[in-house]
Amino acid sequence: MYDNWEELEQSIMDCRKCKLCQNRINIVFGVGNKEAKVMMIGEGPGADEDRQGIPFVGKAGQLMNKAFSGLGLKREELYIANIVKCRPPSNRVPEAEEAEACLNYLRNQVILVKPKIIVLLGSTALKNILGKEYGITSARGRWIEKKEIWYMPTWHPAALLRDENKKIEFWNDLKQVREKMNQEN
Ligand code: URA
Repeated sequence: MYDNWEELEQSIMDCRKCKLCQNRINIVFGVGNKEAKVMMIGEGPGADEDRQGIPFVGKAGQLMNKAFSGLGLKREELYIANIVKCRPPSNRVPEAEEAEACLNYLRNQVILVKPKIIVLLGSTALKNILGKEYGITSARGRWIEKKEIWYMPTWHPAALLRDENKKIEFWNDLKQVREKMNQEN
């Protein structure tokens, strides 16, 4: 583990720990406020993110941004990252060994950001961070506290593109996040 961002970012620059390195255009490291109270964790970069090197810039990210602005959450006050930092082919779910190979980078990011709240966007984030025993359908919308961090599992924003009904639940989950964030002030 690194105790500063420069060394951590340096350490990932030519990462070849898993086969996702073979087709990547960019490593999508993470973006946002490095002292954020709230960290958002997604699954892995899609095509737009791979091209730009920034998480959640595609359709799903734009939808998430709309929810942020509707709720008065600013992207600049959050830190956003993914379970894997290179794009899985055809946006498939990252394999266990790909997630395992990449997770230490994310753990290091969490240690450096020291968030009070972590929003787990979808099943891949939930299972890799809190454990395989969790399911997104039953876990979403409920706070889970572990080692002084509050976790809020919610839908992945791409799921909202496929199912309109999930939007309201996503919105309500983020509203809880905003409320807790304000309490922490
Ligand atoms: N989906 C994710 O999980 N992460 C991104 O960065 C983009 C889409």
